[in-house]
Amino acid sequence: MSNFSPVPGTADIFPAEATRYRAIADCADRVFGLYGYGELRTPIFEYTEVFQRGLGGETEVVQKEMYTFQDRGGRSLTLRPEGTAGVMRAMMNTGVMNGEEQRVYYFGPMFRGERPAAGRRRQFHQVGVENVGRISPALDAECIAMLVHFLDELGIQNYDLKLNTRGVQSDRPAAAAMLQEYFGKHLDTLCDDCKVRYEKNIWRILDCKQPHCQQLVGACPDYLNAFSEESRAYFDEVRRQLDLLGVRYTIDPLLVRGLDYYVHTVFELGANLAGSNIAIAGGGRYELFLPGCKKPVPGVGFAAGVERLLMAQGELSAPPPSSGPVFLISLGDAAFLANLTLAGALRRAGVATALEPEAKSMKSQMRAANRLLSPLVIIRGDGEMEQKIVMLKKMSDGSQSQVADDQIISTLKGMLS
Ligand code: HAM
Repeated sequence: MSNFSPVPGTADIFPAEATRYRAIADCADRVFGLYGYGELRTPIFEYTEVFQRGLGGETEVVQKEMYTFQDRGGRSLTLRPEGTAGVMRAMMNTGVMNGEEQRVYYFGPMFRGERPAAGRRRQFHQVGVENVGRISPALDAECIAMLVHFLDELGIQNYDLKLNTRGVQSDRPAAAAMLQEYFGKHLDTLCDDCKVRYEKNIWRILDCKQPHCQQLVGACPDYLNAFSEESRAYFDEVRRQLDLLGVRYTIDPLLVRGLDYYVHTVFELGANLAGSNIAIAGGGRYELFLPGCKKPVPGVGFAAGVERLLMAQGELSAPPPSSGPVFLISLGDAAFLANLTLAGALRRAGVATALEPEAKSMKSQMRAANRLLSPLVIIRGDGEMEQKIVMLKKMSDGSQSQVADDQIISTLKGMLS
């Protein structure tokens, strides 16, 4: 592969597609704004420790997928693989430690060294939200309902929303012991990855995709019974509120999510895209220790993969072709100079305008207008210059009319509005 191709798993996003990304960002700003969220832009790279501490040293993302490098000062830096850890780092100087609530959303590139596939990139984009500082089942339910609202506005409907609880940290040892006892009896038949998971992070066995491991997982004991009364009551309340809000979901005890910071509610939204079930969004409630703090800071949030949202929209309908600029056709030098001045005035008046910079035939300039999907074309030659008029051609029906020089801007604005 040539050195001039984009690195595998990255892509150039040309204007037509960039418009679709922007539409998602605009929708996020509008919908999340209704719930009191404002945009937070954090740096694209952070000290590596931010992610190691935030996501957990044993997680797959930290172990295998981070783009980590040393800068010239010998500091270890990492391109952000997700947004939550950086948002929480940014919260250090706010009142979240004293229970003040912060509502922020983000949109931007993330980086994970995964094997590229349909819907899986090494540089991808996430749009996400974090509600930081307070803990309440009502906030978890509202956050999930907001994700559903966002997808409704994007026209995405065919998905499953899975819900589970991870309990609180102190519930885990008893529940993990239950799993250890069960999987310990089947250790020989677990896949090689799960043998390592058995030692390092037993919960990850629950989402192994190997058929035999899945069979064992299907028969494993209900670890929720080992969770505290408090955790079960919290989960019941989240479900009660989601039911009241009319959010449809299924409970999936195997949903554990890949990042270590989750407590209580976790959720994932999957859809059938390009023939397989792909996670469009995921999130949950979490607790993160900020440097120098003895108490963890609570939060709840989610992130959706923008490329996957675009795929989900693409399966529904192709984006409508957008309308192009007004095209100014010049026949002769004098006409070109007049059109150059007109283009400047039109653009300042808010009308997107294009013109051919070199002397070309009428036919070739019309071809350019067609290629750009121009709805209106202005034609100016020596004859029109003498009469102080232009010809205005409507591309949809081919009709032409004369417009006086001093009426061009108002006529075009009227026709385009
Ligand atoms: P995550 O499940 O790791 O969660 O990622 C969220 C979403 O990002 C996924 O559902 C998927 O749509 C998209 N995504 C992940 N990796 C890739 C990839 N390689 N290519 C394309 N899309 C991808 C988080 O990142 C958490 N920070 C979410 C969260 C926010 N939890 C609480 N607050």
